[in-house]
Amino acid sequence: MVRTVAFDALDPAAHEDALGKVFAEGDVDMVLLAFGTLGDQAHDERDPEAAVRVAQTNYTGAVSAGLVCAGALQAQGHGSLVVLSSVAGERARRANFIYGSSKAGLDAFAQGLGDALHGTGVHVMVVRPGFVRTRMTAGLPEAPLATTPEAVAAAVELGLRRRAETVWVPGALRVVMSALRHLPRGLFRRLPV
Ligand SMILES: NC(=O)c1ccc[n+]([C@@H]2O[C@H](COP(=O)([O-])OP(=O)(O)OC[C@H]3O[C@@H](n4cnc5c(N)ncnc54)[C@H](OP(=O)(O)O)[C@@H]3O)[C@@H](O)[C@H]2O)c1
Repeated sequence: MVRTVAFDALDPAAHEDALGKVFAEGDVDMVLLAFGTLGDQAHDERDPEAAVRVAQTNYTGAVSAGLVCAGALQAQGHGSLVVLSSVAGERARRANFIYGSSKAGLDAFAQGLGDALHGTGVHVMVVRPGFVRTRMTAGLPEAPLATTPEAVAAAVELGLRRRAETVWVPGALRVVMSALRHLPRGLFRRLPV
């Protein structure tokens, strides 16, 4: 049986209550933080309030939900918090820096939280997928190394078994992003990414 609880990332004041209902049902082995919004970069650059909604959903919404879940997992003494970050947060691109910057913040937050919880029995795993064919990317031109939600799920499962701290999907993106991250700015700017 699946039970659902209403949750709005944009309403952090309600997170303790909403997520508390889930933890009140019994121990939770794994929390998958998988909400997010891509926004519309071209539009949002001209509409700061829309841009802020992207940032608040992906970053501050996750800070709040992540801390509530981390506290509950710590109280039960075990469990994993899996956070869906993105390669977009690895280096901001002209084409989607509003979303990318929100994911960069989320990624840094999740890494720090993982360090804070190290040794407590609670494990935080940061997942950095590239282009995944989902509703979020429907209609967008596919990026190289595009993947599927099923491949992300398999990588998450393997990462949990290994108690990994960082997972790239596909794995080759770790090397690709390592190179892209160190490209000189002027060169990176001219890339068709
Ligand atoms: N697709 C990609 O290429 C890709 C790549 C890297 C990382 N990611 C990340 O993977 C995660 C899942 O994305 P997806 O590709 O599966 O996209 P998706 O199908 O659009 O799913 C996004 C999810 O976020 C939820 N959401 C959006 N705003 C919310 C809010 N204010 N409060 C609560 N939930 C909210 C949506 O809920 P509703 O169904 O109610 O709208 C939906 O369930 C996201 O964090 C995304 O940034 C995606």
